[in-house]
Amino acid sequence: MQNFEFHNPVKILFGKGQIAAIAREIPAGVKILLTYGGGSIKANGVYDQVKTALAGREVIEFGGIEPNPRYETLLRAVDLARREGAGFLLAVGGGSVLDGTKFIAAAVPFQGEPWDILAKGARVASALPLGSVLTLPATGSEMNFYAVISRQETREKLAFGAPAVYPRFSVLDPETTFTLPERQIANGVVDAFAHVMEQYLTYPVNAPLQDRMAEAILLTLIEEGPKTLAAPRDYDARANIMWCATMALNGLIGCGVPSDWSTHMIGHELTALHGLDHARTLAIILPAVMRVKRGNKRAKLLQFAARVWGIEAGAEDERIDAAIERTRRFFESLGVPTRLSAYGIGDGTAEQVARRLERRGMATLGERRDTDARQIREIVALGA
Ligand code: NZQ
Ligand code: ZN
Repeated sequence: MQNFEFHNPVKILFGKGQIAAIAREIPAGVKILLTYGGGSIKANGVYDQVKTALAGREVIEFGGIEPNPRYETLLRAVDLARREGAGFLLAVGGGSVLDGTKFIAAAVPFQGEPWDILAKGARVASALPLGSVLTLPATGSEMNFYAVISRQETREKLAFGAPAVYPRFSVLDPETTFTLPERQIANGVVDAFAHVMEQYLTYPVNAPLQDRMAEAILLTLIEEGPKTLAAPRDYDARANIMWCATMALNGLIGCGVPSDWSTHMIGHELTALHGLDHARTLAIILPAVMRVKRGNKRAKLLQFAARVWGIEAGAEDERIDAAIERTRRFFESLGVPTRLSAYGIGDGTAEQVARRLERRGMATLGERRDTDARQIREIVALGA
């Protein structure tokens, strides 16, 4: 096992009715900036629950944070927070609202051009405190310190991470997810699955606990994902998916093991160029990464085949092929296409993605940093 440090300070308030508890988690006397997306929280009653919980507190609002939150929009929220002297940010929505709010939190006290946080990795020394009410299980943003922000002007989608933007608390009430369209639930299952794979499907470092925890999350997603799609108001299935998604990217399964993240890096380019939902890019790219990087990932691919899909018979390469195919078919069974052609995206994209990553000095992906521009091109082309 590799050395690691682990510190996750996010308090989780899980279950029915937990929104009512948020007031006690927010310091008295601060002005609260409530942030949200395109209005789903107003349609499903979550907004009303939050406002009731915050009765008597000073609350201002910023709505309209888009899916794949835009830098241009977030800067307006930064202005508002500065002007109004907001002392606490409360994000209510999906991963996009949470990520956008983390960026606002970091940008408010930041000296200089906030884009540098994303493009130049400028240090985030401090941030406004924030909390969240999550309404879409997928990203893990509710219990990690990452955020991914898009800039419309340059069609870039970049990530940052800093301990200062860990939420102080996150409410995970599965009932808030009952109104999610099927597409978003399917996306969430795929995203969480891919988060586990990025940290699991690398090379063995004798970390059996992390392996088994990762496999447990994958198996639970495979069992509960179809259940929650078939019965959206089944509280238990929704609760299980919600906790899986959080556990997939809160740092725990990544302790002491190598990680890949090439599927995500390539996927972000597809979103930036073509506007595909985040998870949909992963469903296309992950199976292709598994094929192209089968040499590096051989031992783990065989373990994945056996323990997750029960594939133990046949020659090694046949088992690997079968596991990749089962994974692809699982995504398709959720209604998430695994081919670029499903979106009418053609040949030029592979070259374009490789060039963009190369230009940014990011064409050294994967757990061994050996996924170069040529292989990136091959991976995207396989997803065609
Ligand atoms: O904007 P509203 O009206 O709220 O509608 C949203 C949005 O249209 C809707 N929605 C959310 N909760 C709902 C609901 N509709 C009905 N009922 C509810 N309860 O769902 C749509 C998608 O929301 P979004 O927040 O964009 O989805 P998701 O949670 O999948 O977030 C995706 C973003 O997170 C980033 C992605 O790149 C993408 O930008 N990621 C963040 C990560 C992190 N912070 O660690 C890691 C991930 O790998 C990912 O990159
Ligand atoms: Zn993801």
